Amino acid sequence: MKVFTNVKDLGDLNAALKEAFEIKKNRFGYKQLGTNKTVMLVFFNSSLRTRLSSQKAAMNLGMNTIVLDVNQGAWRLETERGVVMDGDKSEHLLEAIPVMGCYCDVIGVRSFARFENKQDDYTEKILNQFIRYSNRPVFSMEGATTHPLQAFADLITIEEYKTKARPKVVLTWAPHPRALPQAVPNSFADFMNEADVEFVITHPEGYELAPQFVRGARIEYHQDKAFEGADFIYAKNWSPFRDDIYGKVVNRDMSWTVDSRKMALTNDAFFMHCLPVRRNMIVTDDVIESPKSIVIPEAANREISCQTILKRMLESLS
Ligand code: CP
Repeated sequence: MKVFTNVKDLGDLNAALKEAFEIKKNRFGYKQLGTNKTVMLVFFNSSLRTRLSSQKAAMNLGMNTIVLDVNQGAWRLETERGVVMDGDKSEHLLEAIPVMGCYCDVIGVRSFARFENKQDDYTEKILNQFIRYSNRPVFSMEGATTHPLQAFADLITIEEYKTKARPKVVLTWAPHPRALPQAVPNSFADFMNEADVEFVITHPEGYELAPQFVRGARIEYHQDKAFEGADFIYAKNWSPFRDDIYGKVVNRDMSWTVDSRKMALTNDAFFMHCLPVRRNMIVTDDVIESPKSIVIPEAANREISCQTILKRMLESLS
């Protein structure tokens, strides 16, 4: 595996899940693969889970890890070609990326949507430069449009907790004070559309996700109706994809917060969220603290999703 940015990069999804469960049972069994190999984790944005789970996954595989927080201690990076660099940016990404590639075998990149230019975001301008110029396998640790390590961990978690062959999985929008990227819901839809689940997306009008991620999923604008009979509720805020309101907060309707009344409409559903979560905006205290909340095992599976990707990338080196 040379690139991991979306579900298609995994190939056969059932085979990927099988591999993930084998790793989970024997997470130190592949230590020889990473001996004397180095992964570089490049963060343009903050992280708790991705940073820690990626380092842990690398350690399980016997790898060394270098973490670079681009905005803390590195030269400020110019990302636009053709710019006269007479401002506060001392280094261009076009030199920085191949230099980073000299010091490692695999690179992970976190670079969120900037909401300055929709086309730049949706062409993954930063992440794709790493793929093009680093000469190393590259995995997304959340790009501008996708968060595949999260969605793979979400699918692993659904597989572990499902009690029927084809569960109903509902992705619901919920309110948030700030404009958040669409990466998590995009990837969740990307994976659920390939998984053996009944997939429903519910959100207020204007919050439609990009068609390439929604594909054939059922859209239900009435949240209560979407929740009926659900086996998994996956809550997330995102800002609009639509051109005229792209990346803006246009709705803070607190009636979309996931609470116990709504959970009672479901088939005793499990509650999921990628974290970090704003309590009593996205979800009430009682729901996230309930026995049906699986946000912690979901986060724990981030180690397994990342280890599966790193293992495949290491295998591609030899
Ligand atoms: N879910 C997730 O990616 O968490 P972090 O932003 O803390 O890495």
